[in-house]
Order: sequence, then C-alpha cells, then structure tokens
Amino acid sequence: MKEFKRYLVTSALPYANGPVHIGHLAGVYVPADIYTRYLRMCGRDVFFVGGSDEHGVPITIQARKQGCSPQDIVDKYHKLIKESFAEFGISFDVYSRTTSGTHYKTASEFFRKLYEDGKFIEKESEQYYDEEAGQFLADRYIVGTCPKCGAEGAYGDQCEKCGSTLSPDELLNPHSALSGKPPVKRRTKHWYLPLNEYEPWLRQWILEGHKEWKTNVYGQCKSWIDGGLQPRAVSRDLDWGIPVPVEGAEGKVLYVWFDAPIGYISNTIEARPDDWEKYWKDPDTKMVHFIGKDNIVFHCIVFPSMLKAHGDFILPENVPANEFLNLEGDKLSTSRNWAIWLHEYLRDFPGKQDVLRYVLCANAPETKDNDFTWKDFQTRNNSELVAIYGNFVNRAVVLTHKYFDGKVPADLKHEQIDDETLAQVPVLKAAITDALEHYRFREALKEAMNLARLGNKYLTDTEPWKVAKTDMDRTASILNVSLRLCADLAIAFAPFIPFSSDRLLTILNLPKDILKWDNIGRGDLLPEGHQIGKAELLFEKIEDEAIDRQMARLEAIREANRKAAAAAAPVEPQKAECTFDEFGKMDIRTATVLEAERVPKTDKLLKLTIDTGIDRRVIVSGIAEYYTPEQMVGKQICILANLAPRKIRGIESKGMILMARQPDGKMRIVTPEETLCNGATIG
Ligand code: MF3
Ligand code: ZN
Repeated sequence: MKEFKRYLVTSALPYANGPVHIGHLAGVYVPADIYTRYLRMCGRDVFFVGGSDEHGVPITIQARKQGCSPQDIVDKYHKLIKESFAEFGISFDVYSRTTSGTHYKTASEFFRKLYEDGKFIEKESEQYYDEEAGQFLADRYIVGTCPKCGAEGAYGDQCEKCGSTLSPDELLNPHSALSGKPPVKRRTKHWYLPLNEYEPWLRQWILEGHKEWKTNVYGQCKSWIDGGLQPRAVSRDLDWGIPVPVEGAEGKVLYVWFDAPIGYISNTIEARPDDWEKYWKDPDTKMVHFIGKDNIVFHCIVFPSMLKAHGDFILPENVPANEFLNLEGDKLSTSRNWAIWLHEYLRDFPGKQDVLRYVLCANAPETKDNDFTWKDFQTRNNSELVAIYGNFVNRAVVLTHKYFDGKVPADLKHEQIDDETLAQVPVLKAAITDALEHYRFREALKEAMNLARLGNKYLTDTEPWKVAKTDMDRTASILNVSLRLCADLAIAFAPFIPFSSDRLLTILNLPKDILKWDNIGRGDLLPEGHQIGKAELLFEKIEDEAIDRQMARLEAIREANRKAAAAAAPVEPQKAECTFDEFGKMDIRTATVLEAERVPKTDKLLKLTIDTGIDRRVIVSGIAEYYTPEQMVGKQICILANLAPRKIRGIESKGMILMARQPDGKMRIVTPEETLCNGATIG
C-alpha cells in the first residue's frame, strides 16, 4: 500500500439553509472527525476542511419562505451551524463559507481556466420558465412526480423519496415551486461539462483502480458509468450565486454543484495561504471526502472530472460515503421538523456531546440506512458508557484513593492474569487501528469498548476489594495494571469521544499531550507514586423521564405532521351532474338552535332542538366531536328541512344540518354571512 506524506480530509459543506441535525453528524461529521483526530494522534500531517454551502436554490427557497434575503439566510445559518459543530468538537482546521471573497476568486478562476482550455460545451436549449415569476426554473424550483418511483413533490434535480438524480425534463406533471403553475419552455444558453468524454477515464480510475471503495459507493459509481454519462450544465439562470465569469453571461451564475466542491480548495487557501498547494497538488497527499450517499455522484464523478479537466489537482483516494440515518422509523426531514437539531439536543442534554457522538458512531449508517431511537440512545449510555467504561474507570480510581491515597502503586506482586490482560491491549489496539484506517468506525468503537470490557473483567476476576483485606502488595499490582488500562482507554477513545478523554486525563492527572496513538499500551505513562486527581463520574445515567420527554416531543410533531398531511390531502372529486330540478327539490333554509344536548352513550351525536321558522323540531347530528352543546345553543345554522325523517338512537331526526367537511374529517357548520330570520330559503 502506498505511504502518503499528508492527508486532506474534507467533509460535505452543508447548505446554510437550516440548522444541522443528528443525520448530518452521523453521516459525515462524526466519522470525518474521528478519522482526523486519529490521524493527528498518529502524528500525521492532516488538514480537515469544512464550511457552509451558501449558494443554490435551497438557499433562495428558504429566503423566500422566511421573507428575507438569501444573504440574511446564509448569515444566520452559517453562524448557527458553525457553533453547533464547534460545540460537538468537530475539529475542523477551517470552517469557512462559499460566499467568501477567496471562494469567489477561486471558483471564478477555476471556471475560467476550464473555459479557456476549451473544456466546456456551450449550448442553447429549451428550459422550464415561470412566466408569472419571470424566472427560469432550475433544480428545486421545479417540482413534479418522480418518473422512477411515482412520488409527488420530486425536485428537478432529485427525488428525495427514492434518491434518484433527475433532470427537470424527466419530471411528470411539472409545475413551478414559485407560482404552482405549469411552466413554459424558453431558450437559454449554458455551459456544460461533457462528462461523457471522461467516461473511459472514470471507468479506469474508479472501476479498475478503486475496487477497495465501499460497496455502496462503488456500486453507485458503476451504475452511473454503465448507464452512460451525459454532459452536465455548470451554469444556471439565477440571481443568487457566483456570476459566470465570461462575456455574454449576464444573469447567469455557476451551478451550486460546480462552485461548492471548489469550496474545499478555497477554504484551504483561506486558512493556509502560503502552503495550501501541498495539500491539493502533491500526489503524496491522500485526499478523503466524507459525505452522505446523496452526494456520491458529485464527489466521485463530477468533481473528479472537474479536477481532471483542470489538470493541476490531485484526486480523492477514497470517498467513504454513509447511508442515511432515520429517526424513530421515519426519514429525517427538515421541512417536516422530523429531526433532532444539535442546538436543541444541547439545550436538553447539556454537556452530553460525547453521548450523542458515541451513539451516532456505534449506530452509524455505514453500510445501510439505520434508525436512531431514544431508547437505544438511553441503553447505549446506561449499559455501555456508564456500566462498562465509566464503571471500570471509577472503580480503579476510587480504589486507588481508598488504598493508596491516590498515588499510583508499584507493580509489587505480578501474576499471570496481569500479563494475559495486558497482552490483550496491543491486540485490541491493532483491531481499532485497522478499522479506523479502513473507515469502519462502528467496528473501531466496538473494539475500544472491548478494551473497557477487558478492564471490567480484570477487576471482577481479581477482586482487589477482597484481596486488600489480606494482601496489599497484590492489591498494588492490580490497581497498577488497572490504572494503566485507564490511561490506554483515554487514548483509545479520544478520537470518538474527545471530551470524555480530556476529563479522564484530568482524573488521572495526565497532560493532554499523552494522547498519542503510539502511547496505547506503553505502560509507563503512570509512574509509581504519580498522584492522580479526584474520582469523578465520567458518564451519568440517563433516566426514563428525559427519554419520555423526547418521545413525547416527537409524538407531538408526528401528530402535527399527520394533521398537516391530511389537510393537504386532495379534496373529494366532483360528484355526478345533477339537474336544476333535482336541486330544486331540496328545501334548504335557515334555523336557530334552541336547545342542545349530548345523545347519551355516544361520542359523536348531539340532539338539537331548532326553530325552522315553520316549526320547532329535533335534529340529531354527528357534530359532538367538533362542537359542545353550549357552543351550539343560539347559533344560526342551515338545514335540509325536507329530508325524510330517520330514527337515530331512538330519537326521530327531522332534517339535516349543513356542514363543511375537509379531507381529514374536520367539520364546521355553515351559517349565513349575517344573521337572517329563521326559515329563510337557500338556493
Ligand atoms: N450542500 C450539499 C448538501 O448538503 C453538499 C455540498 S458538498 C460540496 O448536500 F462538495 F459540494 F461542497
Ligand atoms: Zn423517486
């Protein structure tokens, strides 16, 4: 295997159109951060790039929704996202934004070079246009039915339901997201990157050269390449974005998926103006892109083709894309508020960043979509972090204070079990290392937890609290070995749950610079007589109430979404035609409710006594779900007076109240716009 001199780790630039949630963290930022922290601990030269993606239709749509400018939107969310990442310890070397001056310059120059080198095709075509809004409809501005899965509300660039990448022309029943109207077609000119010309090279580079890529990634690439690549437009008719930097391109901007990945380069330049080139141009740099599965084609096919066309840059060595994380069985969704937002999590679980990092890594959607549940969150905290790791450390530290005044005891009476236990450390370290090097973060974390299990088992087997009654020399050895394991744990867990490692170092009274990968299993980090710090719990149990609160919150959102979906459901289709004579047979008139009471032993029925202007009569109506008897008394209503009488629950009902009913079943009575006399005829 090739030895690389340095690493460039990128993580997808999130759209600055909303806060970030657990799906972002699990899919991209936690694994990227673990990998980076591990590399740094190995002493390797690594640069970790992040930033906000601030162009494109997702931003302008959000601005329209909130009634402010795109710049307002990106300013607000860039700040929020950046803070959330910082709070969760995502250790970017730079977190910048694609509205920065450096990025405008870098992206424009990139485009110009390709333009001048004749790498683009210039082409006029007919594109969807919204005459009412006076705007072309690219990407998410055009919605319709997905041709692949039939879902409604698919976008012009992608169906979120089935994940297919689409072009606007493929959408069935297209309509504008702006006016809701069917669009017209208009001619417009754009620049295209002829991906078809890169197909033989991509085939060679990925399908032959990178068989080691994850199956989900390799498989998607293969199906794209085998499906035949088409030229892809790299410009758009929009008023938000980086202007296309050539003559005759007024009103046109770079396509967001052209400019955003160049953001990785711009952000590196911004942070390292003097030596950025070594990260981007030296073939001894290993570039790794961390992304979610919806970004695979852009990072494996489009961006590499751009880099290849440019000619100066290296290509990614790997793209360990993750699948999606679901929440309690449903797809995460910003628009349906079906998410756990990072800033809200921290409000509810202050200081518990590591618990979420741990759970999201332990349950990461590495090979298939996975589900986050609050129960699993609680269980992993209580029975893994608390009961295994935390428990072991706590026992070792408390006993050291109890028997040796908090001073590391000497290894006075070594036994075979000590050697056997310590011999496991390099074995587990090798397993963690191998998993980390190959982007299997779940497995790596599991092996780290096995190291804590080893410690727990060691204490259970050796029982120093009993031995101490008779043999202090042996007790000294047991605690010496246990503390060594604690130090190893602080190091091994540091890439995954860095805050806890820092706290464990404080407990062990060790400096931060011992967090080096090579130090795992070294054995001399805690010399005899070293004074350790106060015992303190590394993790706390999470009680049922906290989990119940979260579940209730989600249930309320689920309910609200159900209602909204029902309200948005299509209204009933029109009934068969009726003649004027047929309508004329119905005697509809006004009446006023005089008395109202519930019909005993029913939920839905009210018995109403009404004045119809002709008579006083009783009507039984199924409106108790929507109106109380008190609300009904005194109300003027409209009735069908000549409906044949029926017995309902033994009560004769003469007529029917007119109600308006929407698709989710919600009903309201129909009343004249102004109170009239009773018996006024309607028609
Ligand atoms: N903003 C995109 C998304 O959220 C990701 C952009 S990644 C970059 O899906 F490479 F283009 F920056
Ligand atoms: Zn679909």
